[in-house]
Amino acid sequence: MRIALFSDIHSNYHALEAVLSDIALRGVDRIICLGDITLKGPLPKECVDRVRDLGCPVVLGNADGCYHPDFHPDRFPPQNASQVAARADFHRHLAALTRADQDWLQNFPVHLAESWEGTSVELFHATPGDNYVLTMPWASNEQMVALRSSESTQMAAFGHCHRAFVRVVHGFTVMNTGSVGLPFDGDPRPSYALVEAERGRLTMCTIIRVEYDAEAAIKAARTVGMIGWELFAHTARTGQFPG
Ligand SMILES: [Fe+2]
Repeated sequence: MRIALFSDIHSNYHALEAVLSDIALRGVDRIICLGDITLKGPLPKECVDRVRDLGCPVVLGNADGCYHPDFHPDRFPPQNASQVAARADFHRHLAALTRADQDWLQNFPVHLAESWEGTSVELFHATPGDNYVLTMPWASNEQMVALRSSESTQMAAFGHCHRAFVRVVHGFTVMNTGSVGLPFDGDPRPSYALVEAERGRLTMCTIIRVEYDAEAAIKAARTVGMIGWELFAHTARTGQFPG
């Protein structure tokens, strides 16, 4: 069984199309989105429609949860220029998305547990219980192991930190898909994860990077009047967190 996992699109439709085109060539049995479909990018509506049309499972990212009617942004004061700009640009996202779109986004489950040909897997955006906590690639083995809810889990996959990695800790595989729309790991190419499971074990866990037209995405950000388009452009060109 072959599975594609992608995450953290962040309204970058050009990157999303590139990733989905690549996935379409891989003959996958299942596609799962690990959250953060919008915010911090130019084209939220296009991304929402494209992911929804896939009909695939999606887990709730912190950005998706911003559309909850009870979400109060003051609970999460902006801590850097990127977050300040994202908050200022949020009204444009709200205007672009219908109420039905917003309801769809904020109703995803936080955590999925699946069995892929007998291989037990947990899927979430950041951690199983909190979709804001960051787990970086250099986190301790203890932090990695704490990501699973059950000792029988063979793999956990998530996104959120926008840095793709695979770690194996005492036989437990931890996989971060990286980000489709805003990679922060120094490689600006969109990333996603490809996994194969056979007869109760994982036979492949790999990160795929795809080429895309970043300049077209930046042009879209300028054209739509995205607040913070310069920060978006910096990350799209460098793969670096804009600060
Ligand atoms: Fe994200």
